[in-house]
Amino acid sequence: MSVEVKIKRVTTRDIRARKGGEPLVVLTAYTAPMTRLLDPHCDILLVGDSLGMVVYGMDTTLGVTLDMMINHGRAVVKASTHACVVVDMPFGSYQESREQAFRNCARVMCETGCAAIKLEGGRELADTILFLTERGVPVMAHIGLKPQAVHAAGGFRAQGRLDAEAEAIRADARAITEAGAFAVVVEGTVEPVSRALSAEIAIPTIGIGASVACDGQVLVTEDVLGLFDDFTPKFVKRYTDLRPIITQAVETYAAEVKARSFPGPEHCFGIAKK
Ligand code: KIV
Repeated sequence: MSVEVKIKRVTTRDIRARKGGEPLVVLTAYTAPMTRLLDPHCDILLVGDSLGMVVYGMDTTLGVTLDMMINHGRAVVKASTHACVVVDMPFGSYQESREQAFRNCARVMCETGCAAIKLEGGRELADTILFLTERGVPVMAHIGLKPQAVHAAGGFRAQGRLDAEAEAIRADARAITEAGAFAVVVEGTVEPVSRALSAEIAIPTIGIGASVACDGQVLVTEDVLGLFDDFTPKFVKRYTDLRPIITQAVETYAAEVKARSFPGPEHCFGIAKK
């Protein structure tokens, strides 16, 4: 008799409870095959709007649509059993009003089955985050460098070097915590700022380019694997370089097709050659 053991998925409550404990392991995921490889090793799989750049070849994340996020979110939820899946809300889908944010977040949660959503913003979105969390939408916030605000910020640059900037980020962290966010991504902030805000808020900080002073780290999977080199931030450690491996496999495939030397149906279906 076989006994089926169902492994419980990591919940947003579990994530919240990891504050100050074992660091949270977070990677981005956009597709089912990659999700299956990452899922056992991650606490959170983030369906990030970085998919606009990584999957769709856009220059920024601004052109990402709600439908794209829903399609990829659904694939990641379906292919995972362990990690808590968080889906990014794309630019323009939550900034207009609390009601617009709720309508679109509810759509993402219902149509993907994800556990939570992420949105970029601090004090200016505290009201919206409160509105969402009071209505059953778990929110992960994203402060510091906010890629959706790249034009307003004048480019991708580290945040918090000036005292006023550092104080603003810490105020953002406090505001989104009070509004009920269960965790916060802190992007592109200098180490003293990450350390200070991680110490003063009660929810886990998940850093990206924000030093080891956070409660966990998130990276874009394709950066980690060497699969995306349009723009790789300096802080990213590439753990492997899959490009030469893929290139070699494709070259071998092309050579075999041209030489008509690839396996035929007799190989696939076990039909013996006469
Ligand atoms: O869109 C994304 O993938 C993100 C992470 C890099 C934090 O927001």
